[in-house]
Amino acid sequence: MNLTNQIAYVISNALENEWTVDQVEQLLEKPKQMELGDIAFPCFTLAKKLRKAPQQIALELSTKLLDNLIANVQVIGGYVNIFFNRTLVTNQVLQSITSDQQQYGSKSITHKKIVIDFSSPNIAKPFSMGHLRSTVIGNALANISEKNGYEAIRINHLGDWGTQFGKLIVAYKLWGNKEKILAAPIEELLKIYVHFHDIAEKDNSLNEQARAAFKSLEEGDEEALSLWNWFKEASLKEFQLIYELLGVNFDSYAGEAFYNDKMTKVVDDLKEKGLLIESDGAFVVELEDMPPSLITKKDGATLYATRDLAAAMYRHQTYNASKTFYVVGNEQTLHFKQLFSVLQKMGYEWSKQLEHVPFGMMLKDGKKMSTRKGKVILLADVIADAIKTAKHNIIEKNPTLEHKEEIAKQVGVGAVIFNDLKNDRMNDIEFSLEQMLNFEGETGPYVQYTIARICSLLQKGNFDAEAFTFSSNGVEAWPIIQLLEDFPRIVEKAFNHADPSQIAKFSLLLARQFNKYYANTKILADDGKTSSKLTLAFSVSVVLKESLRLLGVPAPEKM
Ligand code: ARG
Repeated sequence: MNLTNQIAYVISNALENEWTVDQVEQLLEKPKQMELGDIAFPCFTLAKKLRKAPQQIALELSTKLLDNLIANVQVIGGYVNIFFNRTLVTNQVLQSITSDQQQYGSKSITHKKIVIDFSSPNIAKPFSMGHLRSTVIGNALANISEKNGYEAIRINHLGDWGTQFGKLIVAYKLWGNKEKILAAPIEELLKIYVHFHDIAEKDNSLNEQARAAFKSLEEGDEEALSLWNWFKEASLKEFQLIYELLGVNFDSYAGEAFYNDKMTKVVDDLKEKGLLIESDGAFVVELEDMPPSLITKKDGATLYATRDLAAAMYRHQTYNASKTFYVVGNEQTLHFKQLFSVLQKMGYEWSKQLEHVPFGMMLKDGKKMSTRKGKVILLADVIADAIKTAKHNIIEKNPTLEHKEEIAKQVGVGAVIFNDLKNDRMNDIEFSLEQMLNFEGETGPYVQYTIARICSLLQKGNFDAEAFTFSSNGVEAWPIIQLLEDFPRIVEKAFNHADPSQIAKFSLLLARQFNKYYANTKILADDGKTSSKLTLAFSVSVVLKESLRLLGVPAPEKM
């Protein structure tokens, strides 16, 4: 039971169970200023229910709040402001963290599943900045879901099907060079794809050929299939390099092609339910307040939306998850609205648990970082740049550090990930290497550096996690304790709002508070309090490390 639970329990009791512990907990607030108390209970809603003045209720309640966690109670307006018994709370918080360690803030197992559809790049195309954002946000959400007691199923819904593969097959047959493609698959495939578009602008017959090629692919033509398979394997190999760098794994790579043989069922289902309407030879589902959803084209070929319908149905049968996040850029908001609404019309109540988790763009100098039309900024290059700059910084700051390569990688990659996650995901974010690698800024390296500092402190002080003491942390430590105490709630909020930035912002606050404390307190002083100060430092490092782990950011012990 955490502190807020306990206080809610005391209040609920004092109210003679007029309200449940949960109801009280919902109402509890943090006072705007620390001087007003540690937690406040507003009496306004209760006043309505009891037809009494809020201040009257607050006064009566304040006399009944007797518990050793509570040091003092003050009534201001309709609020009961509560001051904690700091020694007791400090001990309680530090005790939980030192005994639970990385389990601190973990919810008990819910036996529920969550499907997270993320990353999902397109075969034979460069891994874009949008895919990077999806990868980083989706991975963090999967970790956060697990922390909240869910079983997370990480799915990479690869873009490995569609008319573009018809184009690619035609382009390859006309201009492809096997050796070149083997040497640099994505770069070369993109080149012939772009070339196809240039030529097709003047010669429409190419598009006809491409449609026919995709049709034969859908029908299982052997030559088409083997080309497609080769494109896919070669691209995946390149994507894998990025996933390894980022430390991201998937449970399934079932992409769009996987649903090719499950499409007739979807179309039949729609037909049976009388939802399929012919329009110019194509078939659509009409929707209220939005454009119709295109299900099959004139030539019978299926679309992105059709495959998403099949995927949703297949996943429901296979996993029966109680929640699904589609981590996809906000430019696809309409697509997901249409998808969910078609499933609703089909009568699938389970579709209510599907949620699009959108995000903004990645900008460089205020402009969208584009990977289309040959203007490729290869993601691997971007990350390599971050690592190089990180290494440069390390050599400057800490020339004798061992394992520089490995640590530069952790710092560089961590910087890129943290820079993405520290903002509300709907915001566009600016990609600036210099800013994201700043050791003193609001950055991943700043949090990493704080952890490394604590690690060396603990080593110097011979800290023994088994033989620690709590009490006698001075008032300066209180803001840190409050933050540590808040961590389990932050973990919950991050999940409920599908918002990793809650964790990133929290880790910045905690690192900042600790560094402030560190600047003003001699931790390794010979004053008999070293052990309890080290316990505090240790607890901060546990929670900071866990925060970074949830975000997918590595935490080197030395920097
Ligand atoms: N491959 C798609 C793209 O790059 C993203 C797929 C997202 N997931 C999904 N189930 N639609 O735009």
